[in-house]
Amino acid sequence: MTNENLTRRSFYIAVTNMLGGLIAAAAAIPAAFYLITKPRKPVGKEWIEVADISGLQMGVPEEIVYNRERVDGWRKIDEKTSTWVVRTSQDTVVAYTPACTHLGCAYHWDNTMKQFECPCHGSSFSIDGKVTAGPAPRPLDQYATRIEDQKILIGPEIKEDA
Ligand code: FES
Repeated sequence: MTNENLTRRSFYIAVTNMLGGLIAAAAAIPAAFYLITKPRKPVGKEWIEVADISGLQMGVPEEIVYNRERVDGWRKIDEKTSTWVVRTSQDTVVAYTPACTHLGCAYHWDNTMKQFECPCHGSSFSIDGKVTAGPAPRPLDQYATRIEDQKILIGPEIKEDA
């Protein structure tokens, strides 16, 4: 081997190592950032205005569709969701989460039977959310609610034990 070959070989090795180092750094820095930084805290609105109470009939459940912001780890998601709201007096409502407490299917209000019915496995719930039939293990889950200036605000989910 000549001196020139050694120098050229050394140069190629140094360049190869340097490129390898750059590629490793390009992969490692974002990965380290991902592992070291904390996920976002939920910053979505705690209370969301969903409807005007004057638009609801007393004792008649109504499904209200609204948008909410949800934080999932590092992502912020704007999603459409719904709640079943029952006006229980001049200024009180009950708001149910839209998922059946068995396996999470969407249920509906059957106005003839006067109960909430889940089409998946036959659970049904009374207007006050109690299980009247089926495999559902607990009453319908609710959202905390409050009324401000005739507007219905829904807050965090409240789960009842089975
Ligand atoms: S998900 Fe509703 S009864 Fe099974």
